[in-house]
Amino acid sequence: MSGANSVKEDRLWQRHADMAKLGGTAKGGVNRQALSAEDAAARNLLCSWAKARGFAIFTDAIGNLFVQRAGSDAKAAPVVSGSHMDSQPTGGRFDGMYGVLAAFEALEALEDAGIRTKRPVMAVAWTNEEGSRFQPGAMGSAVFAGIYKLDDMLAVKDWKGVVLKEALADTLKAAPAPLRDGAPGFAVDSYVEAHIEQGPRLENEKKTIGVVTGIQGSRRYIVEVDGEEAHAGTTPRAARKDAYAAATRIAAAMYEATTDADDTLRFTIGRVEISPGSPNTVPGKALFTIDMRHPRNDVLDSHEQKLKDIVAAQAAPCPATITRLTNVAPTDFDPAVIDLVRAKTNELRLSNMDMPSGAGHDAMHIAKLCPAGMIFVPCERGISHNEAENAAPGDLAAGARVLVEVLEALANR
Ligand code: GLV
Ligand code: MN
Ligand code: MN
Repeated sequence: MSGANSVKEDRLWQRHADMAKLGGTAKGGVNRQALSAEDAAARNLLCSWAKARGFAIFTDAIGNLFVQRAGSDAKAAPVVSGSHMDSQPTGGRFDGMYGVLAAFEALEALEDAGIRTKRPVMAVAWTNEEGSRFQPGAMGSAVFAGIYKLDDMLAVKDWKGVVLKEALADTLKAAPAPLRDGAPGFAVDSYVEAHIEQGPRLENEKKTIGVVTGIQGSRRYIVEVDGEEAHAGTTPRAARKDAYAAATRIAAAMYEATTDADDTLRFTIGRVEISPGSPNTVPGKALFTIDMRHPRNDVLDSHEQKLKDIVAAQAAPCPATITRLTNVAPTDFDPAVIDLVRAKTNELRLSNMDMPSGAGHDAMHIAKLCPAGMIFVPCERGISHNEAENAAPGDLAAGARVLVEVLEALANR
């Protein structure tokens, strides 16, 4: 039996259904934000499956969770595959979870087929990929890759002021796993991440597998505007320092400045906060977040300058600042891994196309450490970051079949 033939579509689908109960929402999605009780429950479930198969588990100081199937050469660096189990507040059941469960399915398929590999093969669930509760996202993989400092990340607070270090301690208490000593990070031979596409291209082109060539660059910012609280009924326009009015002027100018002719630049204001949030007080403070993405760094640079100029020009009479929180350069995946994914997909006679990723993934950080690549499968109407997110069991299994063949080949190099 080959690894691919040992992938069980029903088992993989059932695992998605079991995970979807943890943080499940009335609309069929999940709210399983990073380092929440629901995240801990997902970790426990994954660990219980791993233990049942006799796989080793361990975690690290940022809470990344690893499941290891031993290789014949105990000293050889592992081949790693995975993604994330945390979700958006109104997330779907496949974003991230598919990559973790496909990797786990690959480990099980290797086990069921009795395939010995030279290198260990690991499944990983990276901590806080989504970055909706704690910013920045793709945090666990970035700490693992040495891109963000562990101590800086432990000090991050969520929107309610909860410190990440405390939330992580609570999570690891509720979902204990042996701690690997030292700072996060160890030698990895290669990394392959499976994920739903989160866009419509595979479905539109009727292809089963996306051979992912790279990930576009992304930056996050926060704009903070200071005004002056005043009575809504009595304060004349000239006397107002309305922080929200300034924020909306800034935002409107930014939408216009980021509307490109070829619709490649992605600009999103996803969170707005107004203080004190009283209907009859002129807002004294306003803030909003910006997520901006493009495949080219120079385009991101020039638009960043435009955003700064807009804040300077539109804020008066309210002082305002724009702060860049993250800057992840575009990623090119390793040509040999891309070729291997394409070759294994063709061997399995699955339709496929090369494509870049619009979404960010943990693979963009791990690609700094070792040869890396990704495998995409279609999702219904390209809908993601939405409770309605859906994917076909057959497509999920097809991606897992490609994954196990790729991992086996890498683990026997
Ligand atoms: C990940 O969810 C991203 O924002 O690209
Ligand atoms: Mn994801
Ligand atoms: Mn996501």
